[in-house]
Amino acid sequence: MNLFDKGKSGPQPVGGLQAGANVDWVYRVQEIQRKKTYKGTDYLDLTVMDKSGKMPAKIWDNIDHYHGLIKAGEIYRISGEVREYKGNLQLSVSRLRRLEAGDGDFPAEDFEESPPFDSQALMDDLAALLDANLSDPHLRRLVELFQAEFGPVFRQAYGAMKIHHAFAGGLLQHTHSLLKLILAVAPLYDLDRELLLVGALFHDIGKTAEFRTQPALESTLAGGLLGHLVISLEIFLEMKKRVPDFPEPLSLRIQHLIVSHHGEKEFGSPEVPKTREAYVLHLLDLLDSRLSIFSEQLKAGDAQKLFSEFIPALGTRILLEK
Ligand SMILES: [Fe+2]
Ligand SMILES: [Fe+2]
Repeated sequence: MNLFDKGKSGPQPVGGLQAGANVDWVYRVQEIQRKKTYKGTDYLDLTVMDKSGKMPAKIWDNIDHYHGLIKAGEIYRISGEVREYKGNLQLSVSRLRRLEAGDGDFPAEDFEESPPFDSQALMDDLAALLDANLSDPHLRRLVELFQAEFGPVFRQAYGAMKIHHAFAGGLLQHTHSLLKLILAVAPLYDLDRELLLVGALFHDIGKTAEFRTQPALESTLAGGLLGHLVISLEIFLEMKKRVPDFPEPLSLRIQHLIVSHHGEKEFGSPEVPKTREAYVLHLLDLLDSRLSIFSEQLKAGDAQKLFSEFIPALGTRILLEK
């Protein structure tokens, strides 16, 4: 063993890693994908994480060996160097191995992601907003059922696998923002506030079954084959059956909000918005998702650079100067 084999002595949480840091610590591999560089060379693209955060990681050498060894969701001892690439930090892995007895004990909860905000407080606020703004007894009953069934899941759910709200609590944060936007916009245009609130509550709930985050972040069979619009619709229809005498026209309007919220058929909506409320939900959904891409880029962006890299979802590079 030479000096370079010696591990760092203390914990190195992902959230505290800086560019240039030499890393030798224990992380969970959340995702692993074999990819090719533009020159055609194979490499492994990983996401490593612990409860403090997550970071992309790359393995450039011994690809076959590591591809056979690494299982997404498991914890490994990883050495490497933190580098900056296109304005974001990533870990260039030089060595990775399974945990050994001498590594010590690492409780599973140290590798579970928690929402980057007080999710209980946000959940309480969401419940209070709905309670204060819904008077229709069918909708109130529906929301009660929703909260009983999805409350705990909702607090932890990702809002997406990639791009925006892709973190624990992301779905709750996105839905909560939509409710606030609806309350601001509905009176300006004399829109059906109650319909919009309930449509927003259900619109992305199918994401809780579209992909899983444990043990690894990946699509489910239903998610890959049906997508979250169809799953959200199914969840709504099943829950609505448990509310006696739920009016059919109201049910159809909510269903329309769910299936048209991506706005265009080429983006997965089987029908485009045909009511003012459906159109508004689509636009507010777009507004919140796009602005969260801005804020996530501004947060992660390189302070030394004026513009970000090209962001496909926005179709441009964005100004990083605040
Ligand atoms: Fe959606
Ligand atoms: Fe959404």
